[in-house]
Amino acid sequence: MVSFSNSEEQEIFERVFAEIPSLIKDKCDGYDELYGYKLNPDDEDATASAFYKKNVAEALILKLCKAYRFQHEEIVSNFVKIMKWRSEFNPLSAAFLESHNKELQEVGILASYPEGEPNNRVVTWNLYGHLVKKKHLFKDADKFVRYRIGLMERGLRLLDFLDSENDYMTQVHDYKGVSVLRMDSDIKKCTKQIIAIFQQNYPELLFAKYFVNVPTLLQWFYDIVKAFVDKETMKKFVVLNDGSRLGNYLQHCPKNPYGGLDVKNTLQEENVAEVRPTEYALYLLEKQNNEDID
Ligand code: HEM
Repeated sequence: MVSFSNSEEQEIFERVFAEIPSLIKDKCDGYDELYGYKLNPDDEDATASAFYKKNVAEALILKLCKAYRFQHEEIVSNFVKIMKWRSEFNPLSAAFLESHNKELQEVGILASYPEGEPNNRVVTWNLYGHLVKKKHLFKDADKFVRYRIGLMERGLRLLDFLDSENDYMTQVHDYKGVSVLRMDSDIKKCTKQIIAIFQQNYPELLFAKYFVNVPTLLQWFYDIVKAFVDKETMKKFVVLNDGSRLGNYLQHCPKNPYGGLDVKNTLQEENVAEVRPTEYALYLLEKQNNEDID
């Protein structure tokens, strides 16, 4: 059930929702997929139509309405931008088809804490501190970006867009080992690119973001990066010099080294390695694959 603060919001939501099929057809070159879900019920292809889930489509469009403060024009123009980006970038492929550099894969962990506080239940960990001596990984920004978007999309699969307590994710950046000397321009370039992609294409999905083990000497880097981030997103950031204090915020994370309640598993053991695409995403990826072979 979708609920609204007032009737104007409801009106805007219903208007946008009714426009989705024509927007997809006329403005998005027919691209019909958001985070693995189908948005257009009126598909000529009967096989594809079977994947449509109205309640999920409603939940996703409501997120966009919230992100753009129920401003009709903004919602529509950003919806079109997001769909076009997805059509070109193919994030589903980055998440479920492509293989990424092993060194990158090792720094991205997806953890699920079903007992956690609402919206602290799906956590994407980025152990970027491990990459300080691996500058070569930032040379090819596109490869890095595809890896990071793949991780984001797989993380989204652990959310439940129909559950208001688990429809946002939390992210952690662990910068243990980072030093002033190691910050170089390739890292900054990659960072800037990913921040821009996240801001434009993944609205209303982040609940909180923790930056841990940030050396006091590197607070200046935070100030630089902040300049690329919008104000609403900034409010969700927490910087902690001492990583072992993270457990005060993310109760169910590993005790060692983050101070959480999980005494049994290391972060690596918490990793949810098997994440499956939605049935619809699988259908789309197979279809693309067949077209490529043809
Ligand atoms: C974002 C990498 C150091 C603060 C990012 C992103 C990357 C990255 C790839 C893109 C967003 C993402 O992946 O979630 C690195 C690397 C570093 C480094 C490799 C050093 C080796 C730092 C330091 C700080 C910092 C020292 C200071 C607190 C931030 C902030 C964002 C960010 C505030 C924006 C997050 C967002 O918009 O979601 N970093 N970073 N980074 N980083 Fe770093």
